[in-house]
Amino acid sequence: MNSKSCTLLLALAVLLPFSPAMADSDSKEIQALTKEVRALRAEVAKLRKSVASLQVIRPTLTTLMPDFAERFHIMHYAGEAGDWAVATHEFLEMQRMVGVASAIDPEKGALMKGFMTGSFNKINAAIEHEDPKSFIKALTDTVKNCNACHTAVGSGFIVITLDVDESLSMRHPHQLTRSKMMGQHMHKH
Ligand code: HEC
Repeated sequence: MNSKSCTLLLALAVLLPFSPAMADSDSKEIQALTKEVRALRAEVAKLRKSVASLQVIRPTLTTLMPDFAERFHIMHYAGEAGDWAVATHEFLEMQRMVGVASAIDPEKGALMKGFMTGSFNKINAAIEHEDPKSFIKALTDTVKNCNACHTAVGSGFIVITLDVDESLSMRHPHQLTRSKMMGQHMHKH
């Protein structure tokens, strides 16, 4: 290759990127990317909206607790009736719910696990021995831990009791006594 054609090639190599054909394809690419970014932005906005509505209906420990209490209550009456299969079923479900609580609320879930683990070991042993006496003793100890956790989360007014008078009335471990409303009087006279 002579030096003239060499210079020509070099000039072509420098100028080629600025050729009109290349500029055209660049701007097409930019247009395509802009379109994609707009579509992604719209998608993110849609997702944000649906996450916000899921946040509103997400479970909390407050929504989980009536189920937890119901399992506890049925387990109590099943054990008293010597129905250890039902007691086991409710007990396993309670154990699973403690795991669910951690997924719902890691902080309170860990607290729940801390308060329930020792109690669950006692309940488990009583069920496996099919021993009504140690079962009731384990439940009596458990109730103390349920209530200690309620106090720890600032809801000490929720008092659990084994002393319920209607056998299968759900949510009845809730002991009801006279009490004053918590917080300020808000409505206008
Ligand atoms: C994290 C520790 C924790 C433990 C352990 C715990 N609870 Fe709760 N419980 C809560 C929280 C949080 C609430 C909701 C309180 C609130 O919203 O003011 C609650 C509320 C309740 C309620 C009221 C439900 C309602 O809204 O009417 C019942 C009943 C209940 N718990 C039963 C139990 C029983 C039974 C046990 C033990 C077997 C137990 N809880 C153990 C944290 C706990």
